[in-house]
Amino acid sequence: MKRVPVLLSAGLILLTMSCARPAGSGKVSNHPRVDSLMKVMTLEEKVGQMVLFTSDWTVTGPSMREGYIEDIRAGRCGNIFNAYTADYTRDLQRMAVEETRLGIPLLFGYDVIHGFRTIFPINLGMSCTWDPDAIGHSAEIAAREAAAAGLHWTYSPMCDVSVEPRWGRISEGSGEDPYLGSLIAAAMTRGYQGEDLADPATLLACVKHYAAYGAPQAGRDYNTVDMSERWLREFYLPPYKAAVDAGALSVMASFNELDGVPATANEHLLQDILRGEWGFRGFVVTDYTGIPEMIKHGYAEDLRDAARLAVKAGIDMDMVGPSYFEHLVELVRSGEVPMKTVDRAVRRILEVKAALGLFDDPYLYCDPEREVSETLTEDNKAAARTIASESMVLLKNDGILPLRKGERIAVIGALADSKDDLLGSWRGAGEVKSVPASIYDAIREYNGPARTSYAEGCKEFGEDRSGFARALATALPADKVVLVIGEDCQWSGEAASRTDIHVPGVQTELLERLKSMGKKVAVVLLNGRPLDLSKESDLADAILEAWYPGTMGGYAVSDVLFGEYNPAGRLSVTFPRNLGQVPIYHYAKNTGRPHEDPEAKYESRYLDVVNEPLYAFGYGLSYTSFEYSPVSLSAEEFSGDGFISAFVTVTNTGDREGTETVQMYVRDLVGSVTRPVKQLKGFRKVTLAPGESKEIEFKIDAQTLSFYRKDMSWGPETGDFKVFIGGSSDNTDEAAFRYEI
Ligand code: NOJ
Repeated sequence: MKRVPVLLSAGLILLTMSCARPAGSGKVSNHPRVDSLMKVMTLEEKVGQMVLFTSDWTVTGPSMREGYIEDIRAGRCGNIFNAYTADYTRDLQRMAVEETRLGIPLLFGYDVIHGFRTIFPINLGMSCTWDPDAIGHSAEIAAREAAAAGLHWTYSPMCDVSVEPRWGRISEGSGEDPYLGSLIAAAMTRGYQGEDLADPATLLACVKHYAAYGAPQAGRDYNTVDMSERWLREFYLPPYKAAVDAGALSVMASFNELDGVPATANEHLLQDILRGEWGFRGFVVTDYTGIPEMIKHGYAEDLRDAARLAVKAGIDMDMVGPSYFEHLVELVRSGEVPMKTVDRAVRRILEVKAALGLFDDPYLYCDPEREVSETLTEDNKAAARTIASESMVLLKNDGILPLRKGERIAVIGALADSKDDLLGSWRGAGEVKSVPASIYDAIREYNGPARTSYAEGCKEFGEDRSGFARALATALPADKVVLVIGEDCQWSGEAASRTDIHVPGVQTELLERLKSMGKKVAVVLLNGRPLDLSKESDLADAILEAWYPGTMGGYAVSDVLFGEYNPAGRLSVTFPRNLGQVPIYHYAKNTGRPHEDPEAKYESRYLDVVNEPLYAFGYGLSYTSFEYSPVSLSAEEFSGDGFISAFVTVTNTGDREGTETVQMYVRDLVGSVTRPVKQLKGFRKVTLAPGESKEIEFKIDAQTLSFYRKDMSWGPETGDFKVFIGGSSDNTDEAAFRYEI
């Protein structure tokens, strides 16, 4: 790494007098420089450290403050987001370090969500790998690329559990399960932050959107959230906590209200739980204009009131605001906000800057050489291609996949030749020009141009059928059709909710037309939410859910279609049969009238559709097949701190190597509060050669059986349980056991 000589301003001389004490990742120590700074900072300078403005390089929200450069120079803005490149961040950093009285370095943030320059699949897609280590590795690569471009801080991991396919931001999370989501949140945090935050190949993680942002009413972004404290703690909070436990040193408050109080001023969330119970020691930032939005929520009278409520609730940094910028000094002078509240917030922010190594070398992260050498490397692209293949879920296959090299293949569809859509939303600094191949390009390259043809057919939205004729003519001589359809990539992500979760436009009609010609059609889907695929699942001969697979996504799709990679992705979110079933998820309760008798009327059921989803959580096919032995137990009861083991033997019964995700769920049959019918408690990925068998063991102990009991204490209860093991939440074998406290 190249170290750049630092020009010392008067302020920096003051800062460098005491020697550095590196803090490990996830740790803040009382850094001596922070102590010395806190003694000399004016109130205005302190408030400056609590302000975060966006640069105009990228704008990720509805408003921005003009003149942020002057604010930096005046020491009134200590943090910037949406500015990157080593050169630009160095310029801004120089202003802060050399032109302000104390020379406190800026903190640079950015939305590095699923990659920075090398773009990985969208997070919902990556969660379908059920491979936290691989996802953590993607975060590590993203951090290396972003940190070389001058960035210190990413607004990730997004830890919002969601069962809401209407909500466009379901694409940014890890699906519907708190256990899987927690493992991924922790792995991403470790991936970003590494062993030592001061390592210039790492980024500070930011746990967002705290809390329960994934449960907006009616799936409309930013909408009201309301739920019981029990459900909040049991279902929504675990991934945020897992990221905090993994060492994340910043948290972003969410836009939504919870229990009538916006998260931005929610003392219960920010103080009782985050700091009180979880022991969080980093700083809390708002989400964009979260503070002024409290006026529209009907919670604050005006901007001044909103600033007061936020700072008192525990918001340390105001993103975009400009509530703290305009009102905090005066709020302290009037005595409405205690000085110690500001001191605490500033100290938290400065301690994180110290942990990042910025007081030792403010330019540590802006390195034009590393920016080139670390970015879009062959290794990074190879990792992106592998995880993209791993993220894809084969939903249906009547045997037309894998394709055979040399078949006449017509590649058709609105998204077949799009490089842009492969990147998805929140694509960091990823550029279309870095995408080497669309899906069509990659198939043609593999299969040969003479045997591969292409037609767009129609757009991904709208009613225009004028391309149908050409598409049908292109399909006519082909042995098989690959139809690439789905949602435009900007239809998911922030502010992208839908009330209709069908494949949009006339794309399904094109599928119908192709099928009525008698063609064998493999549908490849690019989308960022569970869709209603009831029509497509009837019509298509095969369906591959490819999500938005990133920079190398074209090749990854081709790898899976031709069987160069045997698909192994498993759904991390349930696909409903129609929107009326929503919310539908595997973690459901039994109810007092579960639907057991097909003839019965007074049961929990619909008149027009079955209760079961189209594709269940945990589901996904392979080009081989797996068989499970019955579940066996090491004992049928255990107690106290003991444990039992549940075993299955999994056999690859097909003729090619494949990877199975063996899933374990438990049910507590009678509890002081009701428990879900199937709660994911463990899984293992196992790769088996044809004919090979492996015994898989899951340990079950008191922790496995613990939950928030009636009195909200955490622990197990004496009683009867079931364990379920299988290859999907709806395809398991079970065994019964008893536990005594
Ligand atoms: C608003 C989004 O909700 C959040 O996820 C993002 O990190 C910020 N804007 C900053 O761009």
